[in-house]
This record gives sequence, structure tokens and C-alpha cells, in this order.
Amino acid sequence: MCHSSAQPRLELLIDLSKLRSTSGIALTYIGDYSLTFINPITAAPFSAIRNLFDYLAQNPASAAALNDVYTLRGIFKTAATENPTCDQKLTVDLSPTRIARIPPGLQVELTEHGLGDILTFFNTISDHYVPQVITSLSAIAGRDLAPLHASFNVNFRLIDYNPATASPKSQNGCGAHTDYGTFSIIFQDGTAGLEMEAPETPGTWVPVPGNATVLLCGWCAVVLSGGKVAAVRHRVRRVPGVRRLSAVLFVAPDLDVKMAPGERVEAFSEAVNKGLYDVRWFKEKMGKKWRYREGNENLECGDDSAEQDIDVSQLVWKKIC
Ligand SMILES: [Fe+2]
Repeated sequence: MCHSSAQPRLELLIDLSKLRSTSGIALTYIGDYSLTFINPITAAPFSAIRNLFDYLAQNPASAAALNDVYTLRGIFKTAATENPTCDQKLTVDLSPTRIARIPPGLQVELTEHGLGDILTFFNTISDHYVPQVITSLSAIAGRDLAPLHASFNVNFRLIDYNPATASPKSQNGCGAHTDYGTFSIIFQDGTAGLEMEAPETPGTWVPVPGNATVLLCGWCAVVLSGGKVAAVRHRVRRVPGVRRLSAVLFVAPDLDVKMAPGERVEAFSEAVNKGLYDVRWFKEKMGKKWRYREGNENLECGDDSAEQDIDVSQLVWKKIC
């Protein structure tokens, strides 16, 4: 029976002292760069985020108009209100392209109900951190990653772990997964629930303080850095009856970038070493499963969202028979 070669051993250190401001340098690396606490240049506007979720929930016509902007999958996703087994969360998924497509009248309406502050926040955060983090990751990778991120492929996600879902007592806010892109920055409203898997002891979940802002890397960073950057599996557990809000900036390479290291890596599969997959293909491969986990896509019989990281591991790492 084949199995994937072991991922390079990682060290996960959660040191509360790292939560302090690092004046001048905004990033504080933890362990092997797999998890980083940052002291953000601006706080996430959680009152605006709460306001927007509440307004969309109470104004279905406006929510429908917003979803018409992106008819393929919608923007305001509420599968958890009907599906008790998917991730019990509501999301608003924005990107610069989708924002530009919101009709002017709807822009004005939603701006008054939180969207204005939210977009100001995400624009500030992405303008500041994307170049800075790509530069830092390039230094670690020994490879200039900036040309692979020329199109500013960013997504802004708001998440409402609202108690009023189809399974109000479920602890499953967000199932265990590794992000697909280059890096993500997770802002929290002070409520605990985010957990990181300890790399040395899979299955052991380490709570992250609810007031921490976390930068973590995804599969694209692992591959493009030749395995020098690690990704960490994470999940969100709900406390029944407790509402929790978060905001996430996702940064990914340009869609036509080959998922390949700069130089051959023995631990990687031949397909990855040869660059047979591009980011677009890889995103679609992973996206199908995360949409299933989130209740927004059906999978064929036998396909299991819990297998997502196993599938990707088998794509990325060399099999040892
Ligand atoms: Fe994630």
C-alpha cells in the first residue's frame, strides 16, 4: 500500500508574548513560519460586520440582489440555516471583482449598513500586508514570489458563527482544513473558537486566543517555497449560543501560475516538480471539497470532504511504496 512521504517536521509554538506589538516589523514568526501572530495596523470593524450580516438576514431582497452579482455561487451564503451537517456558519465572500460589480444603488444601501467600513478595512489591510508578506515569504523561500502574485488575487471573507443555524448545538463552526492559497490573515472578534492542529501530534488541537490576529500559509506557499514554508491545519469550534465573528484576507498566486517549486524537491511528487497543475486547476480541485464542507456543493457518492487534505497531500508529496 502506498502512502505519502512524511511532511517535513514542523514546530508549533504558541507564545503569548508574541502577541505584543513588534514596532516597525509587523510580523513575528513562530516556529518554522507556519503560524504567525501579527499586531494589525488597524482593527477589524466587527460592529460593521455584525451590522451587515444582520441587515442581509433581515432584508432578503437585498441579499438576493447581492447574490445576483455572482450568480455562480453567490456572495452571502446561508447553507447552515438549512443544512445541519455542514459548517455551521454564514459567510459573505467578496473580492475586488465582485465588489466592482455591485450595482451603485445596492452599494449605497449596503455601505450604510457596514459594507463601507468593511471595504475600507480590507483595502487598507491588503494594500499594507500583501506586498510585505510576499516579500517575507520570498526571503524564506529563496525565490522571488512577487511576480507570481502580480494580479493581486485576494479575497475578503466575513464569517458569522451565528447560533441560529440548522444545528444550534453543533460545535462544528468550520471543519479541519488547510487553506489552499499563499497566505491568509484571520481577524477575530475576541471570542475563542479557532484552533490549530499541532503538527507533531496530528489530532491534537491547540486553541488560539480569541483576540489574536493570525497569519498562516496555505498549500500554494508550501509548493512555491519548495517546502520551506509550512501550512497548518485549523478549524473553528462553536460554543452553542455564542455568536462569533471573524474576517479573513485570503491571498493566492495568479491563476495561471504553475504549482511547482523553484527547484526540484525530492519530497514532492513528479507532477508538482514538473508543474503539471496550475493554480486555477488546484483551486478548483480543492474548492469542490470545501464548498461541500460548507454546504454549498454536492459531491458524488464516496467523495468525502474530510479527505480534502489527504487528497492534496497525495498530489503534492511523493508517494513511497
Ligand atoms: Fe482556513
